[in-house]
Amino acid sequence: MSKTPRKPSVIRGIDLFCGAGGSSWGAQKAGVEIVAAFDSWELAGKNHHVNFPNALFYPTRLEDVNISEVKKDLGHIDLILASPECTNHSPAKGNKVRCEESKNIAFQVIRFAQELKPRWIVIENVVSMRRWSRYQEFKKELEADYQVREEVLDSSDFGVPQSRRRLFLLCDRQRLPDPTPTIPGRKKTVHSIVNLNSAYHYKRRDKL
Ligand SMILES: C[S@@+](CC[C@H](N)C(=O)[O-])C[C@H]1O[C@@H](n2cnc3c(N)ncnc32)[C@H](O)[C@@H]1O
Repeated sequence: MSKTPRKPSVIRGIDLFCGAGGSSWGAQKAGVEIVAAFDSWELAGKNHHVNFPNALFYPTRLEDVNISEVKKDLGHIDLILASPECTNHSPAKGNKVRCEESKNIAFQVIRFAQELKPRWIVIENVVSMRRWSRYQEFKKELEADYQVREEVLDSSDFGVPQSRRRLFLLCDRQRLPDPTPTIPGRKKTVHSIVNLNSAYHYKRRDKL
């Protein structure tokens, strides 16, 4: 893989646990250049590539990544986006046995940050990650190099017609990040974005 040349004044970001690229998409909308993404799920990579054809994709478990090699491939990185596996924190798992090993994968974010030394990290997860027995230890490790703002944000405060609360850890090496401003005004309803007429026709066609 050849090293991508650095454009000055562009924030160069990588997306760990990229999935299909929701976090990458939001960052790109804010002006970030997504230069690489990582996910152990091949299908995630295929989708991310459709959405971000210029980003390198690493189809691998983060635990297996040789970050010195990544550094050679990518050059300087300003921002790490990371949505560590949340299934074992999530209340959606009910009473099923939780996997500690899966929760510990979050520490890969620290490993990447210590080697790549980006100015910023944005970590997103389910709110219940805060109940994890190693959460304070995880935050302390971030705080060794970064000033960290912990926020719970609800997508419905940002123009999304869905209420979805998520935990965010906003980390900056130079200063405490400002609180995230929400979009003032009325929240959007699902009704406001769904064309009920076409939904009705679709249902009828389905029955024929
Ligand atoms: C919550 S999803 C990420 C969603 C993504 N941020 C988005 O906006 O679409 C978590 C992702 O982590 C990936 N993953 C889980 N364990 C991993 C590991 N050890 N190494 C790399 N990726 C992993 C999963 O395949 C999954 O796509």
